[in-house]
Amino acid sequence: MTTHRLVAALGVSLLGVIVWAVSVVAAEPAKTPCDISRGERVFAKCAICHSRAQDVPSPAGPNLAGVIGRKAGTAANFKYSSAMKKFARSWSADELDRFLQQPASVVPGTTMAFAGLSNADDRRALICILATPSP
Ligand code: HEC
Repeated sequence: MTTHRLVAALGVSLLGVIVWAVSVVAAEPAKTPCDISRGERVFAKCAICHSRAQDVPSPAGPNLAGVIGRKAGTAANFKYSSAMKKFARSWSADELDRFLQQPASVVPGTTMAFAGLSNADDRRALICILATPSP
């Protein structure tokens, strides 16, 4: 192979790699980072009852570390209402969004004394930080 042809072949394969890389990047779903300061500000309302740090006891509710993906009513060392135990759904981001908007209407009979968060951006920022392990 002459040097010319070698350079041309390398050029073509390099182009292939670039095209592939660009398509992989474009196929990635857009991940917007958490609005951490907003999330923390909203979580202050929860923190009077909930801890979200692993192994730090909550003042009055179940620990929220790792709550995303956990089945409702199953955190250790917390006595749930029978309503929450019966609810028993997995806390996906969507399910949390619904619950946090109006806890008492999503889980009638819950002992979580919290009216709800009406602002969708507040809920989004909060759920985003709940999905991130807390130090
Ligand atoms: C006044 C105390 C209080 C406040 C404020 C409060 N919670 Fe709760 N929360 C509870 C209690 C108590 C429960 C258990 C409810 C039950 O067993 O019915 C609970 C349950 C939950 C659950 C279900 C957890 C599980 O393990 O199934 C989630 C999620 C949750 N709270 C999130 C929040 C978030 C997020 C906030 C802030 C926007 C918040 N809570 C505010 C007391 C509170």
